[in-house]
Amino acid sequence: MAEQVNVALIGYKFMGRSHSNAYRQVAHFFPDLGAVPVMNTLCGRDRQAVEQAAGQLGWQQVATDWKDVVRRPDIDLVDIVTPGDSHAAIAIAAAEAGKHVFCEKPLANTVAEAERMLEAVQKAGVRNMVAFNYRRVPAIAYARQLIDEGRIGRIYHFRARYLQDWIMDPNFPLVWRLDKNAAGSGPMGDLGAHIIDLARYLVGDFDEVTGMAETFIKERPLAESSDAGLGASGGAKKGQVTVEDAAAFVTRFTNGAMGTFEVSRFAGGNRNANTFEINGSKGSIRFNLERLNELEFLDLTQPSTEQGFRDLMITDGAHPYMAAWWPAGHIIGWEHTFTHEVRDLMAAIAGKVPVHPDFLDGLRVQQVLDAVERAASSRRWERVAR
Ligand SMILES: NC(=O)c1ccc[n+]([C@@H]2O[C@H](COP(=O)([O-])OP(=O)(O)OC[C@H]3O[C@@H](n4cnc5c(N)ncnc54)[C@H](O)[C@@H]3O)[C@@H](O)[C@H]2O)c1
Repeated sequence: MAEQVNVALIGYKFMGRSHSNAYRQVAHFFPDLGAVPVMNTLCGRDRQAVEQAAGQLGWQQVATDWKDVVRRPDIDLVDIVTPGDSHAAIAIAAAEAGKHVFCEKPLANTVAEAERMLEAVQKAGVRNMVAFNYRRVPAIAYARQLIDEGRIGRIYHFRARYLQDWIMDPNFPLVWRLDKNAAGSGPMGDLGAHIIDLARYLVGDFDEVTGMAETFIKERPLAESSDAGLGASGGAKKGQVTVEDAAAFVTRFTNGAMGTFEVSRFAGGNRNANTFEINGSKGSIRFNLERLNELEFLDLTQPSTEQGFRDLMITDGAHPYMAAWWPAGHIIGWEHTFTHEVRDLMAAIAGKVPVHPDFLDGLRVQQVLDAVERAASSRRWERVAR
């Protein structure tokens, strides 16, 4: 009989919905898991709103104070889907109470917070995972497999862009993502954290960075509430935008590869364009989230007369995670990446083994973000702490 893992989810909006969907689906598609999640408690500050969300998303009960929830003896796993300014307090309290901790990205708003979070989970000996969900796109997991098998050879370049366009209207209000106190940073921590994690997953550790950041619209209407998100509206009063709107940076990886990165919320026409290309001595890879069931692969060991990128359809049962879903060619979507995360987290809980990306991986990303922020301000190369 599979171990029952009682989950408390703190937060219930965008990521609250995607994590809830994963908990609902995982055991139906991955039936041989040694541990299965039980959607025990949904926690939010507004009782009426959290009760409505719990009904819609399928949670057994609600709570309004995370401090009580993380200490409850019947809770096994605390899942944090709140803005970055509350991650450290919730994760540390949960670890101190002996709970496994799953935390949305970026792990924290500062390196110091991430260090304290890592210390807490290591001291408690609990499973810990950061929700860098793109590692669990089957095409990206397969890219990693090709790299591990030596099919790309020595990696020379990693070139990534993560572009959105949802705040181009100067009247879009000052939501929490545009407030440094709540979000830690702008698209660097939000979008950049994802592609930094992918770079570490596919290429390796960062040595040094230099870059720039820009805030195009410096004042915006205040949001109607501190919880406002996409689609929010604002009033007549204005406030300061305290994060960057866009950033770009370059890196030298410790293995000698070069990396270039660009993130923006002002890239008109790019709704959620997460793309990367890798060039190595034996081959190249291209990925585009908008076509996430595909991976472009160039095999330089083939005769020169047959060179060119091939478009691989990553829906075969032999591709990572795909045996659980549909016959080949029957595609999956963005939400499946969260189901794959929960699958791997449940396997780690059942097997009492580590799962990645863990809080150490989260700290490493935070250290890169910190170095980029320092470089954008000093206009020099900055070393990435490790
Ligand atoms: N993995 C991904 O692809 C992805 C995508 C979007 C967001 N995120 C991350 O998920 C986290 C949440 O983002 P979101 O888009 O879901 O935000 P959101 O604004 O949609 O939801 C935030 C939730 O947190 C609750 N909340 C805020 N402060 C709280 C507090 N102090 N105590 C309890 N609840 C609180 C809000 O009521 C709301 O339910 C962030 O860390 C963000 O970076 C990850």
